[in-house]
Amino acid sequence: MCGIIAYIGDKPATPRLIEGLRRVEYRGYDSAGVAVLGEDGIWLRKSTGRVEELSRLVGEGTKSTVGMAHTRWATHGGVTVQNAHPHLDVTGRIAVVHNGIIENMHELKAKLQAEGTVFRSETDTEILPHLIRHYYEGDPLKAVLRALEDVRGTYGIGVLFADHPDMIIAARNGSPLVIGLGEGETVLGSDPQAIVAHTRRVIYLDDREVAVLTRQGCQVHKLDGRKVAQRQQVLDQDWGLAEKGQFQNFMLKEIYEQPESIRRCLSGRIQIDDGNAKLGGLNMSPRELVAVGGVVNLGCGTSYHAGMVGAMALEHLARVPARAEIASEFRYRHPIVSRESVYFAVSQSGETADTLGAVEEVTLKGGQCMGIVNVVGSTIARNCGQGVYVHSGPEVAVASTKAFTSQMSALMAFTLMLARTRNLSLEQGQQVARALLDIPNRVQEYLDAPGPIDEVVASVIHARYVLFLGRAFSYPVALEGALKLKEVAYVPCEGYPAGEMKHGPIAMLEKGTPVIFLAPTDAHREKAISNMKEVQARGANLIVVHNAGDAEMASIANVSIPIPVVPAYLTPFLTVLPLQLLAYRAGLALGRDIDKPRNLAKSVTVE
Ligand code: G6P
Repeated sequence: MCGIIAYIGDKPATPRLIEGLRRVEYRGYDSAGVAVLGEDGIWLRKSTGRVEELSRLVGEGTKSTVGMAHTRWATHGGVTVQNAHPHLDVTGRIAVVHNGIIENMHELKAKLQAEGTVFRSETDTEILPHLIRHYYEGDPLKAVLRALEDVRGTYGIGVLFADHPDMIIAARNGSPLVIGLGEGETVLGSDPQAIVAHTRRVIYLDDREVAVLTRQGCQVHKLDGRKVAQRQQVLDQDWGLAEKGQFQNFMLKEIYEQPESIRRCLSGRIQIDDGNAKLGGLNMSPRELVAVGGVVNLGCGTSYHAGMVGAMALEHLARVPARAEIASEFRYRHPIVSRESVYFAVSQSGETADTLGAVEEVTLKGGQCMGIVNVVGSTIARNCGQGVYVHSGPEVAVASTKAFTSQMSALMAFTLMLARTRNLSLEQGQQVARALLDIPNRVQEYLDAPGPIDEVVASVIHARYVLFLGRAFSYPVALEGALKLKEVAYVPCEGYPAGEMKHGPIAMLEKGTPVIFLAPTDAHREKAISNMKEVQARGANLIVVHNAGDAEMASIANVSIPIPVVPAYLTPFLTVLPLQLLAYRAGLALGRDIDKPRNLAKSVTVE
C-alpha cells in the first residue's frame, strides 16, 4: 500500500525521490506526489495515476536537497489530485506524507474547522499538517510530538517544515518506517526497497517513536520526547535492489527465480545425514518440539494457502494436529489459544495488518507466535521475536509467487524437524530431506519445459468462468491458482476441493468451460478420474496437471500438462508452477498491468 520516501543530503532531492517512488510502486497505489523545500517555501507536485505521470509533471524539479514523496492507495476520499499526498497546512509551510489511518479524524477535523481551518481534501491525513501547525511555536519536534498526542490510529509519517530546511521529522505507530544512514545523506522509507540504493546502514523505527533526520544522521525519540540510544543494523545481502533484468516484468522474473529462492530457504537448514532440519530462529529444543500439541498457521491470501499446505504436511508427516486460518477472521471469532500449540504468522511482507492483528491476539491470550516472514526487520518479524526468514529476496510483483514456494519450504523444514522428534526414523527423515533438497532441481526442470500453457491461456481469457479443482495437497494449490488468475488477469474463477464440485460448482459448467484439474499421482487418483469424467460429461474443457509419464491422465485430458514426479506432500511446489505461468500469460494476453494489478496492494497495512 502507500509508500514513503524522503531525502535530506547533498544532492538534488527530486530525482532521488522519484526513483525511490519507483521502487515502492510495487506496493500498490493510485496517485503520487512530491514536496521539496525551495527558496520560496514548499514546492509541491501531485498527480493521479502512475509515478511516470508525476515524473513528467515534475520535469527537472528544483535544486533542493531536501524533500519527500508518497504513493497513495485511496482509503479516505477518492483518487484525486487534492487527496494525493503530501498535504500542506493552511500557510503552505508544513508538509506531511502519511501511511495509515487516523481513527479520530472526525473529532479532530471538527475541532480544527471550529477554529477556522479550511480543509482542501477528503483525507484523514490532512488533519496532521493543520494539527502540527496548531501546536507549532518554532520547534518542529515539539509541535509534532504534541500533535501526535491528540492522534488515535496508525501512522508512518514524514514532516517537512519550510522554516527548517535542515531536517525532516518522521514518526511511526503501526505503519513501518526505516531510516537509511548514508554518507552525507539520510533517507526515510516505508520499506527497505526505497532506500537500499543509498545505503544498507539502517534504523527501523519502533511504534511510538519520532526521529529527526538531518544530513549527518538521525536522532530517535520516544513520543514523550526522551532520546533513544542509537541502534543501527546492516541490511542483509540478499536484500538487493530488485531489478527486472532481462525479464519483461517482475512477476515472470520471480516465477523463474524459484529454483534459487527455494534453495536459499532450505540451504544450511536441511541436513541429509541426520534426516533432520535446523531452524535456529525458532530457538526450540527437541524437548520443546516434542511438547508441541498443535500448529496453527495464520496468514492472508497466498500466505494463507502456503499455511494450508504446511498444515497438511504437518499432519501427514509429523502427525500433529495442524490447521491454517485466515488471519483476518482469527481474532474476531474470539479464538481459543492453546499454550501447547505453536502459532505461525505467515507473511511475505511482514506488514499485513490482519496478520499482525492475529499475532497480537495470540500473544494477548498467552500463546506463542512465531513468524514465517520474508522481509527482514518487518513488523511481524520483530513483534514475534522468533521465527524463520524465508529468504526469497525482494518480491516486487503484487501477485506473490516465489514467496509462496519459499513459505512452503520453511514450513516443510519445520515439519521435518517436528516429525523427526516423534514420527520419523532416521531413514525416513533422510528420504524427506533428500526429496526436499531435490525440489529446486525439479522446479527448474518444469520451468525449462512448461508444457502447452498457451493452449490453456486461449481457453481461459474469454471464459465466463474457470474452475480449479484439486484434492488433499492439491486443494490449496487450486485456491492459489484461482487467486493468481483473478489477481493478474481479472478472469472470474474459483478454486474448489475436487470432491465438493458436485455440491455446487458443477452447475456452472457448460460447453467449453475451462476446468483445471490438479491431479498428481497420489492416493486420490481414481477419485480424481471419476470427477474428470463428470466434468467432461458436461462438455467442459478439461485441463489436467499430472505426473509426467502418467499416460492415462494424459489421454483423459483435453489439455495435458505433465510435471516432474515428487512425493505427494511435495507436489504443491510443482503443481503451482503452471498456474502461476497461466495467470501471467493470461494477464499478458489481456493487456493487464501484470506487476501492479488494479485495486490490489502488495502490502496491505489496513484491516
Ligand atoms: C495482499 C497481496 C497478496 C498477499 C497478501 C498477504 O493481498 O496482494 O499477494 O498474498 O496480501 O500478504 P503477506 O505480505 O502477508 O504475505
